[in-house]
Formats: sequence, structure tokens, C-alpha cells
Amino acid sequence: MSELKIPQHVAIILDGNGRWAKKRMLPRNMGHVQGAKTVEQIIEDAHDLGIKYLTVYAFSTENWKRPKDEVDALMKLLKDYLKNCIKRANKNNMRVRVIGDKTGLEPSIQEKIQELEEISSQNTGINFTIAINYGSRDEMIRAMRKLMTDCKNGDILPDEISEDVFAHYLDTSDLPDPDLLIRTSGEVRLSNYLLWQLAYTEFYFTDVFWPDFNKEELVKAIEYYNGRDRRFGAV
Ligand code: IPE
Ligand code: IPE
Ligand code: MG
Repeated sequence: MSELKIPQHVAIILDGNGRWAKKRMLPRNMGHVQGAKTVEQIIEDAHDLGIKYLTVYAFSTENWKRPKDEVDALMKLLKDYLKNCIKRANKNNMRVRVIGDKTGLEPSIQEKIQELEEISSQNTGINFTIAINYGSRDEMIRAMRKLMTDCKNGDILPDEISEDVFAHYLDTSDLPDPDLLIRTSGEVRLSNYLLWQLAYTEFYFTDVFWPDFNKEELVKAIEYYNGRDRRFGAV
């Protein structure tokens, strides 16, 4: 096999935790627990492969509509995950960011996020971004509000608003656009993920449920990406 060209930024819609559990007659939450373990492993695999940016969709603005029990369990899992991440980030030289509307999360989770972003801000290894209470439309509306406020204050003129300026107001302002998007579990939709940022991204869909996703599957996605004809000069 010839040398693989590694995408700089891989974005993932991790899906299928519930169906993975159902197939095993387990409660849905067990699927989420296993899914969180898969995230841990995939960060390491992505790092080994030379991926610089990994961005995963953990909880969408629409996911609040799920049954309260499931939302509560997911929030607890996220909190434990963030706590654990605080311990691991420096050890692995990993920089962690969270995108999404943090103000909609419970204060204890907001604190953990702030701590994690701060303690890892100088790390120079993989950039791991977690989308929590994230929705692309919501992100764009929040960006628009900030932009309008700056316009009103005279800090920017309407004619000065370019694509670059707008992108600067998004949660992803210091991340490059993704080169490759992966969605697991056979669903073929974006579910309000990174709509602006995915404008030129290659999409890879697999039937594998997220808890079963592994390095081999990640390599398959990268091989697919290598087979695409990037006609417009992207690296
Ligand atoms: C993805 O798995 C994880 C989250 C959205 C939090 P799902 O919970 O959507 O699993 P399925 O789609 O029901 O199988
Ligand atoms: C998208 O998955 C959101 C996350 C992965 C966090 P969902 O499973 O919630 O998406 P839909 O509702 O099926 O589109
Ligand atoms: Mg799903």
C-alpha cells in the first residue's frame, strides 16, 4: 500500500450507540458508556496516524428532546468524561476545546470545560474538540448576534463582512475546516453539524455502530479520502 495522505482535520458524527446496545439487549446508556471509551481510543489512534485536529459531535442542541433519563445519563457521562480528560490532556500533550452553547449546560459542566480548556491551552499535540450542546444553526445565530453588536458599536462596517470575518465569529474560529467527515451507523445526514465548515469536506459514511468503530475503520475512512479526486487544489 502506498503512503497514505493523512487529512489534517477529521470531524466525526458518532452515531449508533443506542442501536449497538439494543442489539446486545443492553440499556441504551451502556451504548453511551462504550461510545465514550471508543472516543478515548480513537483520539490515540488519530494521534498515531498523524491527524492534527479531531472534532467529535457528542451532544446536539436537538438531543435535549430525548427522554429525561437519557439526557441526565448523558450529562453525567459527559461530566465524568471531562474530569477524566483534565487528567489525561497534559499527559498526552492534547489541546482540548469545546464548541457549542456552553451557557446552556449546567454550571458544574461549564466549570469543567473552562478548566480543561485552560489547562490544555499550551499543549501542542493533537487538537481534540468536543461539540456539546452544539447545533450549526444555533452557532450561526450566536455568531450573527455578536457580529451585529460589533456593527452597532461601530467596530465593523457591513461592507467589511467577508467569509473570513464571519468564520471568525463561529465557535470554530481557531480551527481549520475539516478535510474528512465520518458518520457511523448508516445514517446519511448532517444533523446540524458544522454546516458552514463542511462546505468542501469529503464525506465518509459507514454502517459500523460507533462503539465498534476502531483504528482499522478509521484507516478505511482515510483510504476512501485518499481515493477522492480533490480537483480544486486542496492539500
Ligand atoms: C449517538 O448515538 C450518541 C449521541 C447522539 C449522544 P445515539 O444515541 O444517537 O444512537 P442511536 O442512533 O439511537 O443508535
Ligand atoms: C447526531 O446524532 C448528534 C450527535 C451525534 C451528538 P443523532 O443520533 O442525535 O442524530 P439524529 O437525531 O438521528 O439526526
Ligand atoms: Mg443516533
